[in-house]
Amino acid sequence: MELLPQIQNTMQINSAIFTMSARDLQAAPDWQHPEFAFIGRSNVGKSSMINMLSNKDALAKVSATPGKTQLLNFFVMNGKWSLVDLPGYGYAKVAKSEKINFNESVGDYIAHRENLRRVFVLIDSRLTPQAIDLDFIHWIKGCAISVAFVFTKADKQSPKKTQETIKTFIEQIPQSLAEVSPIITSSSKNRSGRVEILKLIEHDLKS
Ligand code: GTP
Ligand code: MG
Repeated sequence: MELLPQIQNTMQINSAIFTMSARDLQAAPDWQHPEFAFIGRSNVGKSSMINMLSNKDALAKVSATPGKTQLLNFFVMNGKWSLVDLPGYGYAKVAKSEKINFNESVGDYIAHRENLRRVFVLIDSRLTPQAIDLDFIHWIKGCAISVAFVFTKADKQSPKKTQETIKTFIEQIPQSLAEVSPIITSSSKNRSGRVEILKLIEHDLKS
């Protein structure tokens, strides 16, 4: 585990443009931009985070009703790299027998997208570790893609509570993944975590 320090200087976002929605990997844009995708259970705040990072209130569609984002949505940032807003898991109507209740096309995209550089896995900072998140994390560990964990909605509780959630969570995920994955606390409401996320993206773009 690595706790990122508060760093104030980060790259500017000069342009953030919604480019297209895709149903699956085959329909995804045919470009080589480094991509950074946001995943997590439905309603955790993925679309809100895209808006916070891009400094635009309504770039990605946000809703209090879970299941708002249904397609893979691609945004080009500064004309050079991309953010991808993914449908949440835990909402899609799939067979109960499927252990990992998330969109098959999302899994296919994460497992096979060649220009995907990192997946930001969003976790609700108010909740004890949920089976659905832990199942997903075990699955993504097998994908050999870089991950960062972002604990969202931190404005809704005390920093102490958020730290307790993070500690319990780390104890329950595979140690090898915890050791190499940055952990960031965020709030799309008060914009905390924005600098840390952009710093990490900037780092990935250089490496
Ligand atoms: P799906 O597309 O349905 O999977 O959801 P999502 O993960 O994209 O969540 P979305 O960004 O649409 O946010 C869901 C709800 O949570 C909305 O009502 C947001 O306003 C709210 N929300 C998101 N992030 C935050 C946050 O950091 N703080 C607070 N207080 N509310 C948030
Ligand atoms: Mg969404």
